[in-house]
Parts: sequence; structure tokens; C-alpha cells
Amino acid sequence: MSFTVAIDGPAAAGKGTISKAVAAHFGFAHLDTGLLYRAVGAKVLAGASPIEAARALDPVDLEDDSLRTPAVAQAASEVAVIAQVRDALVDFQRNFAARGQGAVLDGRDIGTVVCPLADAKLFVTASPERRATRRFDELVAKGMDVALDDVIADVKERDARDRNRAASPLVPADDAYMLDTSDLTIDQAIAAAIAIIADRMS
Ligand code: CDP
Repeated sequence: MSFTVAIDGPAAAGKGTISKAVAAHFGFAHLDTGLLYRAVGAKVLAGASPIEAARALDPVDLEDDSLRTPAVAQAASEVAVIAQVRDALVDFQRNFAARGQGAVLDGRDIGTVVCPLADAKLFVTASPERRATRRFDELVAKGMDVALDDVIADVKERDARDRNRAASPLVPADDAYMLDTSDLTIDQAIAAAIAIIADRMS
């Protein structure tokens, strides 16, 4: 039996860390779908056309360390409004979800568009301040030279663009479990996510 977990939410809510831990706990494969949009955004920054870059995307493109920079995050959210870019990336995500015994996909539209029939859906949120501070700490830990005010502005701008776009906007699926991580440690957030998914399995 294949089991699909969809984890969506706004920027820096903790989706990535929770998804990795959940996948490891259940022995599932994990796909960070933001990397697909970041890889397309990086190619556009290098001069490519967004739709062609999305159509030509190679899984190896997802392994580039430079995809984590704020500039690439902005470029990702700009290409993510283009319906043809999203269409070009859907099959890759659905094929990933269908393979093997189980998969965790995290992003913005997994529970609504990519895998509307997912077995468990979580929508992970946190206050904008908490999210921006966490992202700032992550970028500093990676050795990047960033200012907190710029990180706050980046997160707000991307959230607004992701929520207001016509194609697959950031919105919780009707049947998603809402997990607010503002006042949770990462271990508490992971434990809560595992409990929700285990409940859906039984
Ligand atoms: O890590 P963070 O939450 O900041 O961002 P990400 O998940 O790497 O996604 C980067 C950008 O890609 C987002 O701001 C969205 O615009 C876009 N994205 C999307 O539109 N749909 C997805 N399933 C995943 C990401």
C-alpha cells in the first residue's frame, strides 16, 4: 500500500524540517517541491526562459547548494505564478508520490492540486515574526550575510505573492489538519505531525 503525506504552508513555517523527520520516522521518501521552483528560478536568474527551464528540469538540478539563497527564493516565487511552469512540474511530483511504499511531499499546493487525494494532509503555519526569525537563523547558520529586516521583507513578499496568485494559490485544503508551530519546539512540532499521520493510518 502506498501512503501519501501532503505538507503545505507559508515560507519558513517548518515544513522542511517536519517533512524530513516524518519521512525518516515512517521510512517514506521525501520531496521538497520548493526545490523544483527554486531550480527553475535559478535558471531564470542565469538567463533562461521560465517555461522552457521548467520543461527541461533534471532531478540533478535540485542538488545545487545555491538554491537556498534569498535571491533564488524570490525568483522561485516569481516563476511559481506562471501556470505553464506549474503544469510542467506536476507530473514529476505526482510520479514521486506514486512510487514506493510511501512519500512525503512538502510545498504550497500539494494537498489542493498535486495530490488532492493524499492520505494525510497538514497545513503548517507560524506567526510571520517567528517564521522570519527562524529563516534568518537558518541563513546565518549557512554562513550567509543577511539582514533580519531583509529576511522579514522577503518572507512577507513571497507569502503575499503565493497567496494571491491565480494558479494554485497557497490555501489550506478543506481536509488539512492545521498545525501552528509558533509556540512549539521543533521536536514538539515533529511529534505532533507524526501523531496526526499515525492517526490517519490507523
Ligand atoms: O523554504 P521556503 O518555505 O521559504 O520556500 P520553498 O518551499 O523552497 O518555496 C520557494 C517558492 O516556491 C515559494 O515561495 C513558492 O512561490 C514556490 N512554491 C510553489 O509555488 N509551490 C510549491 N509546491 C512549492 C514552492
